[in-house]
Amino acid sequence: MSDQSSALAGAGTPSFANSSAASAAENFVQIVDVVKKFGETAAVKNVNLSVKKGELFALLGSSGCGKSTLLRMLAGLETATSGKILIDGEDLAQMPPYRRPVNMMFQSYALFPHMTVESNVAFGLKQEGVPKAELKERVQTALELVQMGRFAKRKPHQLSGGQQQRVALARSLVKRPKLLLLDEPMSALDKQIRQRTQIELVNILDRVGVTCIMVTHDQEEAMTMASRLAVMSEGQIVQLGTPHEVYEFPNTRFSAEFIGSTNLFDGHVVEDEPDHVFVETTDLSTRLYVNHGITGPLGMPVTISVRPERIALTRKPPEGAFNWGRGTISNVAYMGGYSLYHVKLDSGKTVIANVSSLALTEIDSPSWGDEIYVRWSASAGVVLTA
Ligand SMILES: Nc1ncnc2c1ncn2[C@@H]1O[C@H](COP(=O)(O)OP(=O)(O)OP(=O)(O)O)[C@@H](O)[C@H]1O
Ligand SMILES: [Mg+2]
Repeated sequence: MSDQSSALAGAGTPSFANSSAASAAENFVQIVDVVKKFGETAAVKNVNLSVKKGELFALLGSSGCGKSTLLRMLAGLETATSGKILIDGEDLAQMPPYRRPVNMMFQSYALFPHMTVESNVAFGLKQEGVPKAELKERVQTALELVQMGRFAKRKPHQLSGGQQQRVALARSLVKRPKLLLLDEPMSALDKQIRQRTQIELVNILDRVGVTCIMVTHDQEEAMTMASRLAVMSEGQIVQLGTPHEVYEFPNTRFSAEFIGSTNLFDGHVVEDEPDHVFVETTDLSTRLYVNHGITGPLGMPVTISVRPERIALTRKPPEGAFNWGRGTISNVAYMGGYSLYHVKLDSGKTVIANVSSLALTEIDSPSWGDEIYVRWSASAGVVLTA
C-alpha cells in the first residue's frame, strides 16, 4: 500500500496476529438470514452471505431480483424485516447512522452541479466538521488517487462521464469507509469508457484496500471486476463463487443462462457410474456423455449445459456414439477473431458454436445452408439438476 492510499484507508494494513483476527477478515460483512418484505411481497428472501475484508464482491441478477434492496439494507437506508447484518463484527442495526462505516456511491449525476470538483469531494468532510488543514489534505489525496487533481477547480458539467464517475468515487473514498457500496456504478457510461473505467476502478480499490460490494446487471462487468460474485433470482442467492467457478460450473439453469450464453439439452439419466453418466435426449440422435457421476436416481430429468466455445464443427460424421449431432447451418455471425455458428439439428434444436478463425480455416469456413456436425468432449458438459 502506498502512503497515499494508506492515508485514505485510515486504519492502515491490518496484521493478523491470531486466528480470530483472520476469521474476522473472512467474515468482514456478514448477512445472516436477512429478509425484506414490502407489504406482502418479499423483495429479499432469507439471504446469507459473508464478504471478506478487501474483497470486491458483485451482486448480479435480473431486474427486480432484490439487488438494490440488499445494498440499501447494507447502507442502513432500509431496515431488514428479519435477520442481521454485521460489519466488522458490529450489528448495523445497533449503530446510529453517523457511526456506520459505510458509504454508498451513487451515479455521476449525484454530483452537485454548482460546486467545483474539489468542493464536491470536500462536502461530506465539511459536514463532519473535519479541521480545515486535514480536510484540504484528504481531498487532495483522494483526487490524486483517481487522477483528477488537475481538474479540482472545474464544475461537473466540464468533465466527461468517466471523469465525473471518478469524482464520485473520490467523494466516497475521502470519507474512509470500511465498506463501499456501488449501485450500478457504470450505468451512465458508454461501452468504451465503461470498460476503461472498470479496470481503473478495480486498481484504485485495490490500492486503497477498501471492501466493496457492487450491484450490476451486467455479467461482463461482474466477471471483469469482482473477485467473487453472487447470482440472485427472486430475492435469493442461487449461486456464489469466483467468476471462473460460476461460469465453468453453473449449478442451475438460471445461472448457466445468466452468466454467459450456453446450449441446454434436456433429457433423463440412463446410466450413472462414479466416473460417468449417460443421458438420453430427444435433442440429439446420440446420447449425452459426461465424464463424472452425479447423485440421483436413474430416469431423473436433467439438463446438460455445453458452452458455445466447447462445441466443434466437423464436415464428416464424428466417431463414437455420443455427444454429437447432425444439422445445417442456419446463421453465421462474423465477430472478428471468432464466428458464431447457429446449427439447426435434425431434431429441430438449434445449437450455437463459437468457432475461432483458426479452427474455421481447418474446416474450410462452412457457410449458410451447409450440412455440418457438432460435437464436444466428455468434459465439456455440466449436468444441471435444477
Ligand atoms: N419501496 C418499495 N416498496 C415496495 N416494493 C419495492 C420497494 N422497493 C423495491 N420494491 C420491490 O422489490 C423488488 C426488488 O427490487 P430491487 O430494487 O431490489 O430490484 P433490483 O434487483 O435492484 O432491480 P434493478 O436491476 O431493476 O435495479 C421489486 O419487485 C421491487 O418492485
Ligand atoms: Mg436496482
